[in-house]
Amino acid sequence: MERWTDDLSVGNASIDADHKKLIVMVNGVEAMIKARDGFALAQAFEQLEHYLCAHFVYEEKVAQAVNLPFGKNKMEHERMLKEFQHMKDELITRDGIWSDGAAEHYSHFLSDWIRDHVIDEDMLLKPVLQTYPYDFKPD
Ligand SMILES: [Fe+2]
Repeated sequence: MERWTDDLSVGNASIDADHKKLIVMVNGVEAMIKARDGFALAQAFEQLEHYLCAHFVYEEKVAQAVNLPFGKNKMEHERMLKEFQHMKDELITRDGIWSDGAAEHYSHFLSDWIRDHVIDEDMLLKPVLQTYPYDFKPD
């Protein structure tokens, strides 16, 4: 995924802002996969994972505040985090030693992964979030 566009909006300012930042971070990780910079990649993964966990917690809080069934949301987040960690472990173990084909594969995987999260999952929240002000925040 290259950049955030309006059609990716889920109808809430702080979630959209998080997604914009996540896309920028994913792009950074993709660039490091291609550059085979194992050390920088490990750091970028840590940063991304940290941000991701905070984002998921926040999203679950928003879902709860607008009375959306957040149990499913939480399960999906756990599944996504596992997928992410699996990919991270695979790449960290290889420490910069992977083929062009593998670099392509992991870059695509990461793009799809963030797209699935933002579009397929969070879009389900949009119809309800749109009934609240765009800058709505949970207490
Ligand atoms: Fe999200």
